[in-house]
Amino acid sequence: MPSSLLALLDASAQRPLAPVPLERPVAVDAVPTPALLVDRPAMERNLARMVEHLARTGTGLRPHAKMHKAPVVARRQLELGAIGICCAKVSEAEVMRAAGIERILITSPVASADKMARVAALAARSEDVRIVVDDAGAVRGLADAAEHAGTRLKVLVDLDPRMGRTGIALGQPALELVRVIADLPALEFSGLQQYAGHIMHLPDAAERRRRARDIAAAGLETRDLIIADGHPVEVFTGGGTGTFDMDCEEPGITDIQAGSYVFMDEEYGAIAQGNRSRFEFFEPALFVLVTAISRPRAGTITVDGGYKSFASDTVAPVACDLPGLRYHFAGDEHGVLQFLEGAPEVALGDRIRMVTPHCDPTINLHDWMLPVEADGMVHELWPISARGCSW
Ligand SMILES: Cc1ncc(COP(=O)(O)O)c(C=O)c1O
Repeated sequence: MPSSLLALLDASAQRPLAPVPLERPVAVDAVPTPALLVDRPAMERNLARMVEHLARTGTGLRPHAKMHKAPVVARRQLELGAIGICCAKVSEAEVMRAAGIERILITSPVASADKMARVAALAARSEDVRIVVDDAGAVRGLADAAEHAGTRLKVLVDLDPRMGRTGIALGQPALELVRVIADLPALEFSGLQQYAGHIMHLPDAAERRRRARDIAAAGLETRDLIIADGHPVEVFTGGGTGTFDMDCEEPGITDIQAGSYVFMDEEYGAIAQGNRSRFEFFEPALFVLVTAISRPRAGTITVDGGYKSFASDTVAPVACDLPGLRYHFAGDEHGVLQFLEGAPEVALGDRIRMVTPHCDPTINLHDWMLPVEADGMVHELWPISARGCSW
């Protein structure tokens, strides 16, 4: 066992990276709960729907792997034509690289020498690793790190669509940063990122479309300013599941970074999309299977999944197969299902599939996904190899 801090952290890249086949397939009714289930046929339909939709406009797909953190899913996305994947963090990218994935965009800036050295080292041993930047000091630091690693690092300028999370202001500040990059031989300016996370879950589809269009127009105006200054902009990347069908209609956006579309969740399911009151273009393909374990009070039943099984930052999990049951968090290991009018009977020992509230942080609570095939059996386990890699 390694004992230095970095060696211990690096050991995360030694987790299983590929699916682990089971000696004997297990029926979904027999897996221990709480279990993170993937409805494999539904996942495949979601993957295909995104590919088909983007093919209509010729927009690329650079799916965000922060959502699933599983190389097995990333590999499937690449097989289906994704131009690369996105990672939110350096450690996540390192896990994906360890799994043999070489086309990675790191979508969050770094500002410390240790991370810069890791990004440069990763780029030096990969076909195409890029990172976003939003600060001149960090740009110079990355140039030094790239020079030290003997590589030329591709960087994208991260534009802040007035979300206030990361990114540089549109217009002149962004152009000034591109000029700094252009003067550094160890860096290559390869384009722009603009991710508008603050509008992804706007419940009203028309309002979301309006905002997406305005944000794209402002970002593309900055792109034109940069091009006019003599800097080609190869990539203009952004967008997520909430605006995928809007952003792909903007001719200047080269690729979409959607993540959640693969599995979906209740947070997305609850917003309007197209002319429907719920977002149904992609279907829920990720569930936490829980078991009813106690009935201390009439009108409710307690299940074995709480804060440690479900993300609790947004809405509540939903018992999708049993309408009339409302989930309430009841602690780390427990949830209480309340029987509303017309709810079906649930007995102790019954197993209930719950749509996850927010897929990304829910997945990060689990070690494995259990893909359920069309035959209702789990044939292999999918390691969530980059689980906990948030550094
Ligand atoms: C930079 C960036 N791009 C893309 C995404 C993917 O968004 P979604 O999961 O909504 O598709 C995220 C998610 O938070 C993100 O932070």
